[in-house]
Amino acid sequence: MLAGKLLKSMLKTRFGVLIAKIQGNLRVMEGKVKVKINRLGADALTLGPIAFIGENIRALVNLLNFRGVPTAEANKKSYNSPVLAEGYAQWDILRDPEKTILDFLKTKPSFRRMLDIGVGGGRTTKYFTEICKEYIGIDYSENMIKACRKKFQKLDKTSFAVIDARNMSVYKDNCFDFVLFSHGGLDAVEDEDRMRILHEIWRVTRNGGYFFFSSYNLDAMFQFCRVKLSKNPKVFAKMLVSLLLVRLSNQKMWKHVRGKQSSLEHTMFNIGGHEWGFKTCFIKPKAQYTQLKESGFENIRMFDLQGKEIRYFPNTTSIELHYLCNIVKPD
Ligand SMILES: C[S@@+](CC[C@H](N)C(=O)[O-])C[C@H]1O[C@@H](n2cnc3c(N)ncnc32)[C@H](O)[C@@H]1O
Repeated sequence: MLAGKLLKSMLKTRFGVLIAKIQGNLRVMEGKVKVKINRLGADALTLGPIAFIGENIRALVNLLNFRGVPTAEANKKSYNSPVLAEGYAQWDILRDPEKTILDFLKTKPSFRRMLDIGVGGGRTTKYFTEICKEYIGIDYSENMIKACRKKFQKLDKTSFAVIDARNMSVYKDNCFDFVLFSHGGLDAVEDEDRMRILHEIWRVTRNGGYFFFSSYNLDAMFQFCRVKLSKNPKVFAKMLVSLLLVRLSNQKMWKHVRGKQSSLEHTMFNIGGHEWGFKTCFIKPKAQYTQLKESGFENIRMFDLQGKEIRYFPNTTSIELHYLCNIVKPD
């Protein structure tokens, strides 16, 4: 019995190592081909099929690799990829709802100290640093923080730290005026951890302070689960493969989300992020509202991807929603 278990775990480990090796080799191979083609001066179309095949083999390998790995662990590992961190660090365009909030904060003289949770490669850093007295960016990915430190070495009143939002005990109660968790960062964890993070944010933000974040909308999920026609055969083929992978990687959840009206309040779903090694939380706006209320947040406002305020819950099919809320504490 024990010997059987031992053999099984050895095989599992060996299998994992083998998969990781194949994955690494595929990346190297694809990288070499890309470099060769670039040297020859060929255009992106020549690269298309190679990248397409490479991408989908890697997707399958990742799907196998992450089978059975708890979501929180797989997501954290996936965010710590140096390649991903390098990619995030290239990005510094503010999204429309963030511009709306930046303008809103400029009108608040009491806004001094800010915490940017899940700062990633520092996309939001330079904009928010300009309008506060002290900016702190944190992330649980060491490689993201490394990238930020390198990128913003010379920026005043700005610092970065490797901290997991599930436990921010290094910060005292009520020490921030504004907390940001942008671009679906909060969606990387499952429900229990999500509530823990909301509680931590409430604790470290002062009475009357603000919390702004974005999250994926479960009411818009059906858009990932249906065939979209395209006249371009390449685009169509890509879409079909992607749909197949969505189906394969969400076997249990598929039936609950493909219809327009999902029976769930929230779910972790794989839509192909980080080459299919990642699951994102999708939550109904109404359920998000309830979570926030239960965690002590008030004056909850919602914005779509164009930065337009949404007044009513039903029929909101914006894939990602931004939420602004106030922290209210008893005297
Ligand atoms: C989608 S990225 C967004 C990065 C950046 N804020 C942006 O908008 O470009 C989400 C980030 O949140 C971080 N993250 C997710 N869960 C976290 C947690 N529990 N604690 C700290 N960081 C977390 C990830 O490592 C990742 O860098």
